[in-house]
Amino acid sequence: MSTRHFLTLLDMTPEELQQIVQRAIILKQMRDAGETYEPLKNKVMAMIFEKASTRTRVSFEAGMAQFGGHAMFLSPRDTQLGRGEPVEDSARVISSMVDVVMIRTFSHELVETFARYSKVPVINALTDDYHPCQLLADMQTFIEHRGSIKGKTVAWVGDGNNMCHSYINAARQFDFKLNIACPEGFAPNTELVARNSDRVNVFENPEEAVDGAHLVVTDVWASMGQEDEQRERIREFRGYQITPALMDLAEDDALFMHCLPAHRGEEVSEDMLEDPRSVVFAEAENRLHAQKALLEFLLVKS
Ligand code: CP
Ligand code: NVA
Repeated sequence: MSTRHFLTLLDMTPEELQQIVQRAIILKQMRDAGETYEPLKNKVMAMIFEKASTRTRVSFEAGMAQFGGHAMFLSPRDTQLGRGEPVEDSARVISSMVDVVMIRTFSHELVETFARYSKVPVINALTDDYHPCQLLADMQTFIEHRGSIKGKTVAWVGDGNNMCHSYINAARQFDFKLNIACPEGFAPNTELVARNSDRVNVFENPEEAVDGAHLVVTDVWASMGQEDEQRERIREFRGYQITPALMDLAEDDALFMHCLPAHRGEEVSEDMLEDPRSVVFAEAENRLHAQKALLEFLLVKS
């Protein structure tokens, strides 16, 4: 069987995604019970980070250690990739020495190229276009709190960014309806929306988008790489802040998620993360469990 990669949620079937998320719930219970489970003894993960990270790095590194393996942090400052060694060459070299590679970078094409030349599974740990690992954790979190997300309505409010794109893929793969509200000029990729028009609706008004939603999600207004646009974006996104009052327009049992890091006073009000409907810290913890399930799927089961 050819090497499996996880560059977007579309690299798995809906059944495989369900299997990974259900397994994440079990791995979490095993860890909570203090069980030792080391299916990746002597396995090594290379972690290539061209952007900053707290959750992704800690969860992958801790997950590999808990599984009995090892994770190696590689930054462009210290590798030849950062000095212009071609991706094709780096992929062949690195993948000849490790068992799995995780990449966080700007260009999605770079990750695709790396995967094409890699002998081992490649995991997208965030590009400018997609953040599929976060969606595994988000889906796990929803299921743990509310049961199946199939047939439910999710509202995405804010920037039509990498997280929004992964929510569009998730709507297809996990079979939910997605309402997106973005300011003019900040909508998600039009082709991606068009391909999923049977379940994705784009609004300009956040109040319309959250109406009937079982889950409300947002993210930063200026993603990594867009720091220069921060001030302009704060102006353009006014009115798109998630507040407890906006949440009141969603379903009574609606949850609030944010991949973090969050900016209080910008995309979320000062009090939103502490609101009882917010599950952002459970969501962050689930990065660990969901990615362990992903690693087990890629390295042990297939
Ligand atoms: N949500 C997320 O990916 O966080 P980090 O940028 O801290 O990894
Ligand atoms: N959209 C954000 C997500 C950070 C986890 C970014 O790309 O910076």
